[in-house]
Amino acid sequence: EREVTILAIESSCDETSVAVVRNGDTVLSNVVASQIKSHMRFGGVVPEVASRHHVEQITQVIEAAMDEANLTFAAIDAIAVTEGPGLVGSLLIGVSAAKALAFAHRKPLIPVNHIAGHIYANQLVEPLQFPLLALVVSGGHTELVYMEKDGSFDIIGETRDDAAGEAYDKIGRVLGLPYPGGKKMDEMAHEGKETLHFPRAMIQEDNYDFSFSGLKSSVINTVHNARQKGDDIDPYDLAASFQASVIEVLVHKTLRAAKEKNVRQLLLAGGVAANRGLREVLSAKMAQELPDVAVLIPPLSLCGDNAAMIGAAAYSEYRKQNFAGYDLNAHPGLVL
Ligand code: KG4
Ligand code: ZN
Repeated sequence: EREVTILAIESSCDETSVAVVRNGDTVLSNVVASQIKSHMRFGGVVPEVASRHHVEQITQVIEAAMDEANLTFAAIDAIAVTEGPGLVGSLLIGVSAAKALAFAHRKPLIPVNHIAGHIYANQLVEPLQFPLLALVVSGGHTELVYMEKDGSFDIIGETRDDAAGEAYDKIGRVLGLPYPGGKKMDEMAHEGKETLHFPRAMIQEDNYDFSFSGLKSSVINTVHNARQKGDDIDPYDLAASFQASVIEVLVHKTLRAAKEKNVRQLLLAGGVAANRGLREVLSAKMAQELPDVAVLIPPLSLCGDNAAMIGAAAYSEYRKQNFAGYDLNAHPGLVL
């Protein structure tokens, strides 16, 4: 089969990223320009600041990705871009840049769903085999996605309130950690002990949904109460106790779904897939209870937002000729 080389753009939140991906599984380049430093002092992503950074960075990041891949546009078969979900002002920069490139170089334009991108990041590790189940955990999403075949997405469970990453970041903020606190909390959890018991919301319920806002409040209240009483609270033990609760619920429901759906592969996806505890417990439990199901976990560099995952997802769309016109718009609330 002929080789297909796609230039992909991701700008849905606070990373400006451009990648060149061949045949949906080989990364020729994946440049990520993070804006985290600019948002840190606000304790979260400021949408207008994010858009302004994207518009400043995008052309240089495209150039860097092409240079790193050592290709000219003659070798590019299509331009892919994240159309949503995400911040509208951020998405629009990527969409506009992608349209300009597609128009100038006469290439087809492929819109990609950001969440599909996180899932297809796993295709850069190993070929996907269906049916599969993906646990998508990020700053904005916590979902169990069943895929009977390539391109079909069935959300069988999701969070009723906060996303897992959001709970990490909000607790991190109360502990005075720099934004986003998820990674640091994970590190702290590994140095602490589970001395406190926090609730495992919805774990016994007969569905695949999650809830993290009660847990988040419970952890934050524990911190506030201790501070009011002048009690010492070990932030490492607190992080360990919180993380134990998050992981137990995520892993419990994921395993139940994987058994019920009889899948061939289980995929971990999204920024929180970088969580060391989650990676370890999910792999260990799967090996114990479902040894015949392959577990795919992206390398750390492909867990957070990046354009290589968008290029991987775009390959399926390319083969189906799912191209967009020049009227493509950003869709901040896009669903899978
Ligand atoms: O996928 P992503 O880069 O952006 C979204 O699409 O949301 O995910 C970012 C989220 C943040 O909430 C961040 O704190 C969290 O992923 N995160 C982690 C870890 N690394 C990143 N959460 C827990 N443990 C980690 N090691
Ligand atoms: Zn993401």
